[in-house]
Amino acid sequence: MDKIRLGLVGCGGMGTRHLYGLWELVQSPFSNVELCAVCDIRRENAELAAQEAEKLIGIRPEIFTNLDEMARAVPDLTAVDVVTDPSVHHDVVCQALDLGLHVMVEKPMAITVKACRQMIEAAERNNRHLSVAENFRRDPSARLVHYLLQTGAIGLPYMALFHSLGPGNGIFITPWRHIKERGGALLDMAVHFTHMIRYQLGDIAEVYGDVRLVEPVRKKPDSIGDTYTFYQNQFQAMESEVPATAEDTSLAMFRMENGATVNWLVGLSGHGGCGGEVIFGNEGSINGFGTRGGSISMQRRGQEARNQEEILASIDGFSLEPLAEYLFPTGISAGDSAVDWKLIALEYYELAEAILNGRKIEVDGGCGLKDVAALYAIFESARAGRALRMSEVENCEVYAYQAEIDGALSLQ
Ligand SMILES: NC(=O)c1ccc[n+]([C@@H]2O[C@H](COP(=O)([O-])OP(=O)(O)OC[C@H]3O[C@@H](n4cnc5c(N)ncnc54)[C@H](O)[C@@H]3O)[C@@H](O)[C@H]2O)c1
Repeated sequence: MDKIRLGLVGCGGMGTRHLYGLWELVQSPFSNVELCAVCDIRRENAELAAQEAEKLIGIRPEIFTNLDEMARAVPDLTAVDVVTDPSVHHDVVCQALDLGLHVMVEKPMAITVKACRQMIEAAERNNRHLSVAENFRRDPSARLVHYLLQTGAIGLPYMALFHSLGPGNGIFITPWRHIKERGGALLDMAVHFTHMIRYQLGDIAEVYGDVRLVEPVRKKPDSIGDTYTFYQNQFQAMESEVPATAEDTSLAMFRMENGATVNWLVGLSGHGGCGGEVIFGNEGSINGFGTRGGSISMQRRGQEARNQEEILASIDGFSLEPLAEYLFPTGISAGDSAVDWKLIALEYYELAEAILNGRKIEVDGGCGLKDVAALYAIFESARAGRALRMSEVENCEVYAYQAEIDGALSLQ
């Protein structure tokens, strides 16, 4: 077998984008995934995805509304790509693993830490790969920051800030992103950020945090611009207002295992905003943790600041993996309109390589759980009124906030 046979489960906005990611991979000399089927509980979404796939890849995948039926009907199905909304990740992923399939699941790995644990146990029980699709770390800018930190380019990191505070009360992509037990906007968006903090600075030791619900009513935006048919259709059908139950604003201090501190201010609410990502070391600083389509810069002690192009020209020993070199030949993704798809192509490629040739999964269940736990540590700290050790959150010893979500979802 030189290709894995894949089913896409969850054919909404990101599911559609995954099809474009697959297309990027299929067009490359690295193609190792064959799309056989699409599945969505809403048949019209699966049909639209099948149409998109046929338009892009030239082969129409089979359409299903039930994962069990798909697994039984499609011969030699190897893996599924789970791109449903987060509140059902654990149900769908555990079912797929118990059916003997390998799984890639979109971030956030799951709706709570307990749900993550169920998924890890199911992967172990069935001896199957479980990969969390975390795209930001695969961007060339993120790889470069990682390399610079690992090689001591700015000395020892001692402090960082991660600020992403955007104003407004618009519905953020989908109504479910404002409902606590469906996966609020902070979980959806900021789990990328806890992941990037951990990717660049290592594990977190302790968290103090606060969260607020600043916008109790979310309103349909005036437009969404020219985008995929799925998003256009979804926008047409969107209600004009959504009562929000998920907090939209957060502040935290992370103390890392290596002693560095990270100052965090993340939200989408209210009036005014601020943004900035900086890592300070005792020999210099880096602007940016790396992100999808982003660029970074670095200033070392006594030197002028250098942009990403200048950094790349001045260092030896840095390289991307072969598929990433092929997709990003300049080593820069900023301004590349296909960056979203290319990072997804890298995720698919890695999963298939793990299945076919034993490649290590970068963001496995354990890593995905730590990202989710780091985000919920902010909420749990706010609820407990004290700083928390990460181990207390990862082991579900402090769990009052998430217990309400588990209760609403009848998650045991
Ligand atoms: N990595 C990124 O940059 C990125 C960007 C957007 C979304 N996401 C993630 O992708 C996931 C999906 O988000 P979205 O914006 O596409 O949501 P969405 O609501 O647009 O799509 C979810 C789809 O899943 C389907 N679904 C729900 N339960 C199902 C089930 N049990 N079986 C099959 N299908 C089911 C829904 O009908 C819908 O079509 C989320 O985890 C989200 O956080 C990641």
